[in-house]
Amino acid sequence: MSISPKFLSGSQIRQTFLDFYAQRGHKILPSASLVPEDPTVLLTIAGMLQFKPIFLGQRTAESPRATTSQKCIRTNDIENVGRTARHHTFFEMLGNFSFGDYFKKQAIAWAWELSTEVFGLPASNLVVSVFREDDEAFAIWRDEIGIPGDRIQRMGEDDNFWQSGPTGPCGPCSEIYYDFHPERGDNIDLEDDSRFIEFYNLVFMQYNKDAEGNLTPLQNQNIDTGMGLERMAQILQKVPNNYETDLIFPIIQSAAEIAGIYYHNSDEKVKVSLKVIGDHIRAVVHMIADEIRASNVGRGYILRRLIRRVVRHGRLIGIQGEFTVRVAESAIALSEAAYPNVRLREAQIKAELAREEAQFLKTLERGEKLLEEIVDRTKQQTNQQISGQDAFTLYDTYGFPLELTQEIAEEQGISVDLDGFEAAMKEQQTRAKDARQTIDLTVQGSLDKLAETIQGTEFVGYAELSSLAEVEVILVDGKSVEEAAAGTEVQVVLNQTPFYAESGGQIGDKGYLNGSLQGENGEGLLVRVDDVKKESDFFVHFGFVERGTLRVGDSITAKIDNSGRRRIQANHTATHLLQSALRKIVDDSISQAGSLVSSERLRFDFNSPRAVTAEELQKIEDLVNSWIA
Ligand code: ALA
Repeated sequence: MSISPKFLSGSQIRQTFLDFYAQRGHKILPSASLVPEDPTVLLTIAGMLQFKPIFLGQRTAESPRATTSQKCIRTNDIENVGRTARHHTFFEMLGNFSFGDYFKKQAIAWAWELSTEVFGLPASNLVVSVFREDDEAFAIWRDEIGIPGDRIQRMGEDDNFWQSGPTGPCGPCSEIYYDFHPERGDNIDLEDDSRFIEFYNLVFMQYNKDAEGNLTPLQNQNIDTGMGLERMAQILQKVPNNYETDLIFPIIQSAAEIAGIYYHNSDEKVKVSLKVIGDHIRAVVHMIADEIRASNVGRGYILRRLIRRVVRHGRLIGIQGEFTVRVAESAIALSEAAYPNVRLREAQIKAELAREEAQFLKTLERGEKLLEEIVDRTKQQTNQQISGQDAFTLYDTYGFPLELTQEIAEEQGISVDLDGFEAAMKEQQTRAKDARQTIDLTVQGSLDKLAETIQGTEFVGYAELSSLAEVEVILVDGKSVEEAAAGTEVQVVLNQTPFYAESGGQIGDKGYLNGSLQGENGEGLLVRVDDVKKESDFFVHFGFVERGTLRVGDSITAKIDNSGRRRIQANHTATHLLQSALRKIVDDSISQAGSLVSSERLRFDFNSPRAVTAEELQKIEDLVNSWIA
């Protein structure tokens, strides 16, 4: 009897993998959040991330073997999503892990058993790769598993040495590929993704890489693996790409239905848009469920970008108006069994999507009006071409994708100056870079240089409102100077300070630097401090020399404005009270999104599934006031 791939649903594949390793002594652990504890990455990119401290010997493992199905997001290949058979932002990685327990030989044997005997992949369809120098792995595959030498490929560092970031735990790896077309013969090129797909990566975690690239052996030899769930589903469900598996296709169908089209009848471009929607909606649903909210920075920006891409692609396939919430419903239904938090947070997911989508649609509408004007204007011109600058403004200010501009121009029988668009884009990038350089040359850049010679500022403000300190650095117009006379705006770094620096929405302290008797001009010196910001380890006091001359090396007394600080503290406490009241009265899922605390006022930004009513506002106010009283 010949072995053939078993048809399994996505959830069956997930469960089969976890059960296989559970039967072999692995503890099934839940997926970690997409928001990693590890500060070196913005989002969880692999199953191993939650175990990084264990690999590094900073934490002991609950159990020497573990297995997980981990939700992951990678955005480095976002442009390929929907265009290739297997690129995603969101995907699930099935993993088995050994923390100083079994190693290469056992990991390879189990991976092979699972792939061939459990999932039923014929050995003749499998090819493996090993790290170029890993003779041991090569020998295990050839001699113990029995794979012919010409089906074991030796690969270089780029492909077969795995690390989660520039530094941290890493090691050589060995990958298993599925060959969709063994009939094409022995000319094996694993880069050819029309023929091969890598579905299982076994990492032999045994080094720690430092910032200089040096490898030091970890205390233990560990195993970290990753099987792409969507890829295995593609293989076992015999579909031409990951998108047509039961893990994603229902989402694509719901988008197609809203657009009034059929996926299988659509042309390639429309299929790409449907696949992008299918991929990104999964990412967005899980990101919001893990408490990420759209914004202009970091993870929030990734979320915003993904939502906007969904909306754009919706328009490209002819959807008018809002649709993301309906598509998200099908993604939630698909995921809830394995990741119940998507159902628990359904209201927040829908509210966030609806808000972002409505906002972006407004921007797009404004862009459309502008585009209409531009088209009319262009039609009067002899060259019948929309200028690169106009196309760029539409793109940059109105989020109007170039391909939409091109499409609309085409319908109107005119073209777009693509070279001009590129040039405008380059120019803006250069401007942005120059702007960064200007900032670098001011506080941050100068301090970076000084950081080699002086130590960071010690904060003594928890205990004291005033302290003696030494002037370490004076910056005027961003340049380091030895002294600054009365009438000069300065930025001052002290060796220690009682001034609180701006952080987490609380503004910096105000106050004064007074000359002390030890200073050259004694008590004559007076520097007003208007704000304090933290730049790496330095507290930078922004102020103005009112009297005397401030010199590097001066001993001064740094004194904060006491009443201001007390009012700031009170407003800070009030933000906590406000949050508690909001949770009690409006919704207990409310979370903080940002805040501003000054001596005059406070502002508290929060995520809420719905708007707060006037009546609730009154209740909140009364409750907070009663607590204060
Ligand atoms: N950590 C490995 C990967 O992500 C298994 O491929």
